[in-house]
Amino acid sequence: MKEKVLEFLKSQKEYISGEEISSKLGITRAGVWKNINKLKEEGYNIESMTRKGYRLKTTPDIVTKSEVSSIIQTKVLGKDIRYYEQINSTNDMAKTLARENAAEGTVVIADRQIAGKGRLGKNWDSPGKTGIWMSMILKPDILPMQASQLTLLAGLSVCEGISRVTGLECRIKWPNDVVINGKKVCGILTEMNAELDGVNYIVVGIGINVNTKDFPEGLSHATSLSQEGGKQYMRRYIIKGVLEAFEKDYMIYKTQRNIGHFLQRYKDYCITLNSDVKIITHQEEYTAYAKDIAKDGSLVIINAEGQEETIFSGEVSVRGLYGYI
Ligand code: BTN
Repeated sequence: MKEKVLEFLKSQKEYISGEEISSKLGITRAGVWKNINKLKEEGYNIESMTRKGYRLKTTPDIVTKSEVSSIIQTKVLGKDIRYYEQINSTNDMAKTLARENAAEGTVVIADRQIAGKGRLGKNWDSPGKTGIWMSMILKPDILPMQASQLTLLAGLSVCEGISRVTGLECRIKWPNDVVINGKKVCGILTEMNAELDGVNYIVVGIGINVNTKDFPEGLSHATSLSQEGGKQYMRRYIIKGVLEAFEKDYMIYKTQRNIGHFLQRYKDYCITLNSDVKIITHQEEYTAYAKDIAKDGSLVIINAEGQEETIFSGEVSVRGLYGYI
């Protein structure tokens, strides 16, 4: 009923009396009042005036199912949206839903994560209502070893989605950090459930710092869209930009099952290429030169001995970025 009251308020330009809402929607006056209060608690700016009634003044930065669904123009992605005010991790929730057979394209969105996960076992700081913490459930017909290609595609979509909506210029640090002015604004965590010969489902988790003002100590290489753009952004429009960009590419990827079509675009955004890099593995740390991105999405480097090597995943620092000098 809360959604119905909201929809009704959105359809009105002028004040509308509680009585009229009550008779149009077939609920009691007390019901109207209760739902209006719930909406106010969610952050909707609803004015109430004696004898005139209610008026929705503005819709603030809200990323609930109804707000996001009402603006995205996608066919599959986000047709089912699960919104949580607070959750441990949207990736974990997406994996639970996928195990329970949630449809491909289901998107989990949270206002706050209390146990947000980063790559390589790190935490992902996800404070309330300042960022986009969302995960997509995908079921492409690919081999498990190809799953990381979706991470590259997601990085590309985040870059393009952000640029389209904010005008900010984004770059990608291989494989999938999205960077603005040399600082990290978005991280992507891809997890999968697979058999040797095929993928059951893949969860692509995207974390974008949107209106974050201050970062905790130790995150000096992090930034937010608002820090870079000098203004606040509505998270739902960034979500829209990213989901729409991703769906377009993902549909092509699903039929071609390789990233050939996207490779040049990815390389154009990739800040890692033609730079000195530091490769950090469990066993060792060494410097190299990043030469190319291969057709499967791996990073081609030239090591200190002048030999070509291929890096499939892991930590690659780029000279000049995130404090690596
Ligand atoms: C990284 O380390 O760069 C990856 C960070 C990924 C964070 C996102 S936020 C939404 C989703 N849920 C999680 O727990 N992690 C990812």
